[in-house]
Amino acid sequence: MSETVTSRLAGFHKLSMVARHEKLAQMLNLDDADLAQLQGIGALQPGLANQMIENAVGTFSLPLGLGLNLQVNGKDYLVPMAVEEPSVVAAVSFASKIVREAGGFTAETDEPIMVGQVQLTGYGDPTEATRKIYAAREALLALANSFHPSMVKRGGGCRDIEVRVLPAPEGPRGEPLLVVHLIIDTQDAMGANLINTMAEGVAPLIEQLTGGRVFLRILSNLADRRLARATCRIPLEALADFDMPGSVIAEGIYQASRFALADPYRAATHNKGIMNGIDSAAIAAGQDWRAIEAGAHAFACRDGQYRPLSTWHVDEGFLVGRIELPMALGTVGGPIKVHPGVQVNMKILNITSARELSMIFAAVGLAQNFAAVRALGSIGIQKGHMALHARCVAVTAGARGDWVEKIAELLVTAGHVKVEKARELIASLSEEDFRAATGTEG
Ligand code: MEV
Repeated sequence: MSETVTSRLAGFHKLSMVARHEKLAQMLNLDDADLAQLQGIGALQPGLANQMIENAVGTFSLPLGLGLNLQVNGKDYLVPMAVEEPSVVAAVSFASKIVREAGGFTAETDEPIMVGQVQLTGYGDPTEATRKIYAAREALLALANSFHPSMVKRGGGCRDIEVRVLPAPEGPRGEPLLVVHLIIDTQDAMGANLINTMAEGVAPLIEQLTGGRVFLRILSNLADRRLARATCRIPLEALADFDMPGSVIAEGIYQASRFALADPYRAATHNKGIMNGIDSAAIAAGQDWRAIEAGAHAFACRDGQYRPLSTWHVDEGFLVGRIELPMALGTVGGPIKVHPGVQVNMKILNITSARELSMIFAAVGLAQNFAAVRALGSIGIQKGHMALHARCVAVTAGARGDWVEKIAELLVTAGHVKVEKARELIASLSEEDFRAATGTEG
C-alpha cells in the first residue's frame, strides 16, 4: 500500500467519481485494470457469465458504493457495498463515524466450523444405530477427510461427528429422524462444496454400518458454530442531534431494541435493516448472501421466537450495541477468484482471512442497525430517506447531470417527492435550462 489505509475520507461524497477513483488508486495501489472494473469498462463479460451459470443471457449491474469510517478492532476498513436502496451506504458511513469517534467497533468470530448433515432412515433401533456410528468415528473422519486432503493440509477438515435423533414429525411414518452431523473446519472457504462432498462421501459407510438408507446429504446453513460478534460503546453526549440530548436519542434506540425483542413483527424489520448492510457488502465481496440470510434468520429463531440479531442498552452514560449472527464467508472458492469485480472489492477490503471479513460484516450490520433505530426512535426515517429518494425521482422524471441534485432539492423543499412534481418542475424551466436538465442540448 502506498499510504496508510484510512476509512475516514472526509468530503469523499463531494468528489467526482474520477477523483474518488484517484484517491482509492493512490491509497490501495489499484491499477488501471482495477479502475476499469469500477468504471464498468472491464466488468463481468457475457462470456464469463456464461461459464458461471446456465442459460446466461447477459449480466446485471448494481450501484457500488463505499461504506466509510468503519474501524474494527483498531483497523480501518473501506467497505464496498453493492445495493440499489438509497441511504444504505450513507447510513453505514454515518454510524461508523460516530462509533469510530467513540473508539470503533470491537469484534470477534468463532472458528470456521460448519455442519454437514446426513439423513438416515430404516436404521432399526435408534440407540443401536447411534452406537454403531459413534464406534466408527475414526473411520468416518478418515473417510470424510480423504475427499479433501488439501483442506486437511491447510489445517481444516472434518473434526468430529455427532448423531442426533429427532422426534418424528406428524405424518403416517413414525420413525424418529436420525441425522449424522459432520463437524467440519472449512478454514478460509465458505465450504459448501467441501461439506457436501464429504457428506455424500461418508453416506455409503453410514448405510453399511447401520443397514439403513441415507437420503439427504447437505450442509446446514444454520452456521451457529461460526458466529461473528461486534459491539460498540458510544458516550451519550455523542448521540445528541435533532435538537435532542443524547440521552433522549439513546432512549429511542433502547425502546427500538425492546420492541424488537418482544415482537417478531418488529424483529423482522429490525433484522432486515441489519441485512441491508451485510447483504450489500456480501454481494460486493462475492459471498453467498442467500446462505448468510438463511443462517441469520434461523439463528434469530433459536429460542423458538424470532428475535433481533442486535440489541441496545444504556450502561453508565454509554449506549451499548451488540450483534451476533452466523457468518459463513469465504475468501477462496466460489466466484471470488472468477468475478473480476469481486477481486477489486477484495483489494479495497484489504483483509487477510474469511474470519476478518466476518468481523467487518458483523460491524457493518450493527452500524446499519444503529443508523436505522437512531432515526426511527427520534425523528423517523422518512425525512432522510425522502431526500435520497428524491434523486431517484428526479432521474425517473428525466433529469440528468447536475440537475438531478437541483431537482431533488426542489422536490424536498416543496415537500412533495413525486415523479409528477419533478416533471412539473422540469417543464417549468427556461428552454435553455430544460435542455441542460434533460440532456437534450444541441
Ligand atoms: C429499510 O430498508 C430498513 C429499516 O426498515 C430497518 C428498521 O426498521 O430497523 C429502516
